[in-house]
Amino acid sequence: MGELIKAEGLDKKYTIKKKEIVVLKGASLSVDQGDTVAIIGLSGAGKSTLMHILGGLDRPDAGSVSISGEKLYAVRESRRSEIRSKTIGFVFQSYHLMLEMDVLENVMLPAMAGRVAGMTGKALRSRAMSLLESVGLKERYNHTPLELSGGEQQRVAIARALMNDPTIILADEPTGNLDEQTGGGVMSVLQNLVKQKGATLVLVTHSDKIAASCKKIYKLGSGLIQRSV
Ligand SMILES: Nc1ncnc2c1ncn2[C@@H]1O[C@H](COP(=O)(O)OP(=O)(O)O)[C@@H](O)[C@H]1O
Ligand SMILES: [Mg+2]
Repeated sequence: MGELIKAEGLDKKYTIKKKEIVVLKGASLSVDQGDTVAIIGLSGAGKSTLMHILGGLDRPDAGSVSISGEKLYAVRESRRSEIRSKTIGFVFQSYHLMLEMDVLENVMLPAMAGRVAGMTGKALRSRAMSLLESVGLKERYNHTPLELSGGEQQRVAIARALMNDPTIILADEPTGNLDEQTGGGVMSVLQNLVKQKGATLVLVTHSDKIAASCKKIYKLGSGLIQRSV
C-alpha cells in the first residue's frame, strides 16, 4: 500500500522571553495507507507540536509534510483547510467538545464547518447517530458533554473525528486523561473503527501499553523520530 503521509526534516522551535525551545530537529516520518502508528515520547518531547504540524494546524520552521503527495504547507490556506476537513480527523487529549451543544450536535460539527458535499441535514444526522452507535453512545445523543464521564466524552470525540469519513485519524494522547481500564476500552473502540473504515491512524502517547495496540511504534526524543524495536 502506498505512502499516505510523509514528513521530512521537520524543525520547530518556540521563542519565549528570548529563550529558544527547540522542539523538533529534523523529525521525519513515513506512514503508509492502512497503517496504525504510535509515537511514544515523554511529556514535553513535542508530541502535540508534531501532531499539529502533521494535521496542517501549525507550520514547521523547516521541512515538509505531504498528504498523498500534496505538500501541506506549500498550498494556500484555503486548500490546507479543505485537506484538513476532508482528509483528517483529530482526536484531542482533552476532547475539545463544545459544552453548550449536545452530543449529537458535537458529532455533526465537522460536517457543518467543512460542508460535506451532497449530504442533507437528515443524512448527516443519521450518519452522526450511526457513529454514536458504533462508540456505544446512541442513547446519550441528547445529553450535554458534562453529563458524560471522561471515557464517554472521549468516545464522542472519536465519533466526531470520524464524521467526515477521514482517511487519516490523528489522535493526541487519546487516553491521556483516562484510567487504564477506561483508556483500554476507548482504544479498542478507536482501533475497531479505524479497521472497519480502512483508515490510517497516527497516535501519540506516553504509554507503552497503548502504543502496543499499533502495528508500528516510533519514539520521539531530542527532536527526532526513530523506529522503536
Ligand atoms: N505555543 C507554544 N509556545 C511556546 N512553547 C510551546 C508552545 N507549544 C509547545 N511549547 C513547548 O514545546 C515543548 C513541547 O511541547 P508539546 O509539543 O506540547 O509536548 P508534548 O505534547 O510531547 O508534551 C514544551 O517544552 C512546550 O512548553
Ligand atoms: Mg501533548
